Amino acid sequence: MKTTLQVNRYDPEASGEKSTVQEYTLDVPEHYTVLDALIQVREQDDPSLAVRCSCRAAICGSCAMRINDQARLGCKTRVTVMAPKGEPIRVEPMGNQHVVKDLVVDLDLFWGKVRAVQPYLQPKGPEPEEEYIASNESMLNLLTPMGCIMCGACVSDCTALEVDKNFIGPAALAKSYRFVADPRDGQARQRLEVMNEYAGAWDCTRCYMCVEVCPKGVAPMDRIMELREHIMDAGMTNTPGYRHVASFARSVEHSGWLNETDLAVDSWGRFNLPKLLSEAPFGIKMLMRGKMPLPGPLHKKRPGHENIARLMKRLERKQPAKAGAH
Ligand code: SF4
Ligand code: SF4
Ligand code: FES
Repeated sequence: MKTTLQVNRYDPEASGEKSTVQEYTLDVPEHYTVLDALIQVREQDDPSLAVRCSCRAAICGSCAMRINDQARLGCKTRVTVMAPKGEPIRVEPMGNQHVVKDLVVDLDLFWGKVRAVQPYLQPKGPEPEEEYIASNESMLNLLTPMGCIMCGACVSDCTALEVDKNFIGPAALAKSYRFVADPRDGQARQRLEVMNEYAGAWDCTRCYMCVEVCPKGVAPMDRIMELREHIMDAGMTNTPGYRHVASFARSVEHSGWLNETDLAVDSWGRFNLPKLLSEAPFGIKMLMRGKMPLPGPLHKKRPGHENIARLMKRLERKQPAKAGAH
């Protein structure tokens, strides 16, 4: 079968800051992945094409790239799935990271964030004489985060990172959760304190992209939500992040929908004038469009809001006991 790859080419030495799109049309067998096709291009047509890979079996995590606008592993993405009718396939380097050449990005940002969460066990008390023992049940919830192959796909497509490069990011947060929830780790509280700061667990916008693109089912956003619960359970509630979530829930329970006026005031604190003033342009826009909600009890209730309040109460009662020993 014929396939056409439209590949982003970028060589800082040859073209400065400019990237171009180069089209390759080639004959490939039906079982080929996008990585197979790229390797064929490199071996038969254009040895200058830079692409990183190793295992070719979705294990090493080195071939993540954007294929048809979404981060994927090249070696796990079939040509026929991306282009069932022979459409051209767009291939670009991962996002949110510095491109070194063509499809190869510099992973310093990724590893820097992972290293920042101290991704290793820091056991409690003195070392045991033989080995650390943990029950099977206490480790089951760690299976998903432990499946991470450090490919960077979640970081590539993270919308929060796109606007703030300081955000610690989905892979590092999932890794942090992996140790917070490990019953053998003795640094859970310190880890949670760091994740409770600016650029930590509260900065995720819950856009779901990391869940969508992760090739190993780590579902980083779900792990981030679990981290937030650990933070709240540890009583670390005096942060804009926690107050934001609490205000959101209070508003929906009270009136059936969100009250953005209360949300801003509750999150930043009513006396935090600099932060409240920073929200003013947004508030003025809402006011001009007649969308500024009245504060507190004056906020208009939606029909059926009692049902939402009842649902929320029922959900609160059903909260499962948390796994992990902290
Ligand atoms: S859910 Fe959160 S961490 Fe995941 S991609 Fe969206 S903003 Fe980033
Ligand atoms: S969490 Fe998933 S997408 Fe992110 S680095 Fe790990 S395996 Fe890749
Ligand atoms: S080459 Fe190893 S994951 Fe694709």
